Amino acid sequence: MPIEFEGVSFSYGEGGSKAPALQDFSWSLEDGGFAAIMGRTGSGKSTVLRLLCALAKPDSGHISIDGRDVFSSLPRRELRKMMGFVFQFPEYQLFETTVMREVCFGMKNLGFPKAEMEENARWAIEKMGFDFEAVRGVSPMALSGGQKRRVAIASVIASKPKILLLDEPTSGLDPAERRKFADILRSLNSEGTTIVMVSHNSEVVCETAKDLLVLKDGKKWKEGPVCDLFSSSLSAAGILPPPAFALSSFLRARGVDLPPCVREEDFLSSLLEAQRRRKNGSR
Ligand SMILES: Nc1ncnc2c1ncn2[C@@H]1O[C@H](COP(=O)(O)OP(=O)(O)OP(=O)(O)O)[C@@H](O)[C@H]1O
Ligand SMILES: [Mg+2]
Repeated sequence: MPIEFEGVSFSYGEGGSKAPALQDFSWSLEDGGFAAIMGRTGSGKSTVLRLLCALAKPDSGHISIDGRDVFSSLPRRELRKMMGFVFQFPEYQLFETTVMREVCFGMKNLGFPKAEMEENARWAIEKMGFDFEAVRGVSPMALSGGQKRRVAIASVIASKPKILLLDEPTSGLDPAERRKFADILRSLNSEGTTIVMVSHNSEVVCETAKDLLVLKDGKKWKEGPVCDLFSSSLSAAGILPPPAFALSSFLRARGVDLPPCVREEDFLSSLLEAQRRRKNGSR
């Protein structure tokens, strides 16, 4: 579902204490897109997500989904059904006694029929990398931090929202969990879910998102395909590319035949491959 922000401004607080969190912000994302939002702390990233899911109302401008204004044309219930929001550290919001109950909670509130709820819960729990039968009766409190995060995310994707908003979904995860999670996001997006993800992690962004929006002081600073933007300097917004990406770009600019790499192991094997080609060519 296409998303559009048109001249949106928003400030927290009342009267004299108002500080602009977002100023004259226009941005759009096509149906089935996957955009990452990056920028320094306090630049307005979470505010964009909060406005999009109608947790806050713009002071001016319009936000629409599929051409329908989020505030005037989309009933709340319909919005809740089409949009899933994974807050930062969602595992702190787990409260049910079993993983199955936890994952079904949101669907119950949305009025899903029992059979569909159970089928979706199985799908979501397996999608997040669990053995459904082994984990369904376990207390979420008995799981590790990374496992809890995956249960929390399962509970959001279980209702199969068409749009998924994620605020720093990989913070606090170890590198292996981050990569597993990146795979899951890519797969959800390839199945048609439109994704907007706030992240400080440039490796995760390069591995998942197609487009990048960079905010600076509550304003849109840059936008474009992830690879193009990371090839330019984003340091003024406090963003550095993944080290392997920076090294491969540096060497490519100096004539070494290397593809853009995100992971260190891909960079090293591409480098060895380039060296082998060079040796063969000079024989
Ligand atoms: N509930 C609030 N009340 C008042 N001001 C707020 C509130 N939430 C955010 N702000 C302010 O709005 C601005 C944008 O905040 P926002 O949370 O969108 O930033 P962010 O880019 O998500 O930062 P971070 O990377 O630290 O999460 C900041 O100046 C922040 O201090
Ligand atoms: Mg934030």
